[in-house]
Amino acid sequence: MAAKAWGGRFQQQTDARVEAFTESISFDSRLAPVDIKGSQAHAQMLAKVGLISDEECQQILEVLTQIGVEIEQGQFEFRFDLEDIHMHIESALIERVGDIGRKLHTARSRNDQVSTDLKLYTREAIHRIDSLLKDLQVAFVERFERDQDLVLPGFTHLQRAQPVKAAHYWFAYCEKFDRDRQRLQDCLKRVNVSPLGGAALAGTSLPIDRQYTAQLLEFTDVARNSLDISSDRDYLAEFCFCMALVATHLSNWAEEWIAWFSTEFGFIKLPDAFTTGSSIMPQKRNPDVLELIRGKSARPIADVQQILVLLKGLPMAYNRDMQEDKLALFDSYDTVAACLELAAAMVEGAELQQETIAAKLEDGFLDATALMEYLIKKGTPMRTGHGIVGKLVALCESRQSRLVDLSLEELQQACPQIEDDIYQILGARNAMAALCSFGSGGEEPVNEQWQYWKEKLGI
Ligand code: ARG
Repeated sequence: MAAKAWGGRFQQQTDARVEAFTESISFDSRLAPVDIKGSQAHAQMLAKVGLISDEECQQILEVLTQIGVEIEQGQFEFRFDLEDIHMHIESALIERVGDIGRKLHTARSRNDQVSTDLKLYTREAIHRIDSLLKDLQVAFVERFERDQDLVLPGFTHLQRAQPVKAAHYWFAYCEKFDRDRQRLQDCLKRVNVSPLGGAALAGTSLPIDRQYTAQLLEFTDVARNSLDISSDRDYLAEFCFCMALVATHLSNWAEEWIAWFSTEFGFIKLPDAFTTGSSIMPQKRNPDVLELIRGKSARPIADVQQILVLLKGLPMAYNRDMQEDKLALFDSYDTVAACLELAAAMVEGAELQQETIAAKLEDGFLDATALMEYLIKKGTPMRTGHGIVGKLVALCESRQSRLVDLSLEELQQACPQIEDDIYQILGARNAMAALCSFGSGGEEPVNEQWQYWKEKLGI
């Protein structure tokens, strides 16, 4: 058992149960690459200000790189008694270069070190999630031409409401995922502020150059208050919230497609490669991937709670509770990344079931609002038009017919302003085509959205 780096004032060995209880190496070893990057920047800064020599710095940089390679290749042994990834790397360095290695931690604490690592890691996570979100947006946008001729019922309360061009749905998801991307870029502004050099909580009396390490690590700013640095995990709460909202959007989409995949809807066919069977019912094709995307969204949502509850009772500055922050970060990141990868593949591979959709498209009076708007254009006050169309719908329901089945006489009886151009409005397709306001689900406005997304995503 190695002596503890902090063991000077202790008279007893740490209890083995305490070591097993306090370790974080079992989940923070994935910080190794960013820990090494941060330490290398720190060493370069120590050399620049004269706290170590250039030769010492060179040795530290080389050995750290070598340790990084060993960790990556799985040739590095992790042990509970060395606590965390930071201690493992530092003690390996000391083992190999002795006193020179003992200088690396000059003017640094694990408190600013771990925050630096987390920020570097979160920055990479933001870039990866952003690119996965973009892939998913591209998958939706690329459906446009395939689904060009398709009209879908739009729902509110899961009741048939108004018809929209199918791609209107795809672009609706693009908008949600775009806001998610914007939120991540905003979060990045806080992530990109360097904590390194904040030391334990108070800064240091040594002549360090925090601007220099910030520059080396490509942070855009330097955090101003060492107490705040030591205690700040806002950026993790924000990142986890971003993940929770992406997961919520994915869950909404998954829920919708699960319904659409049912025999009752029959709107969509999912590729065999993305569905699973039943061990007893031979006919089954289950949307398990979608269900798990919906189900896994519980995790990022729980992770935000975990971070906030973890932080809310802490006094300034670092407290060991904060070690648990990584569990929320990694879990929300891994979960959302895995869901996004599968989501894009499913959006690409799914087929809308034209015939089933068309067969039921005239159900549910999707054209009722279009009829009311026709009456408004003919001078009928909106509320009066609403009442007239409501009565016509009731009449149709009593006959099990559609609005388009009403004769011109019947329609004129309800409202004398109606002329025979009404039949260019009635029917789901016509009602969709009549939609023309900015952002609506009609032909032209959806074409405009298509142009927008093609340009924005560089398709
Ligand atoms: N493994 C610890 C963590 O992740 C590192 C920081 C330890 N700092 C300390 N003062 N004990 O939070």
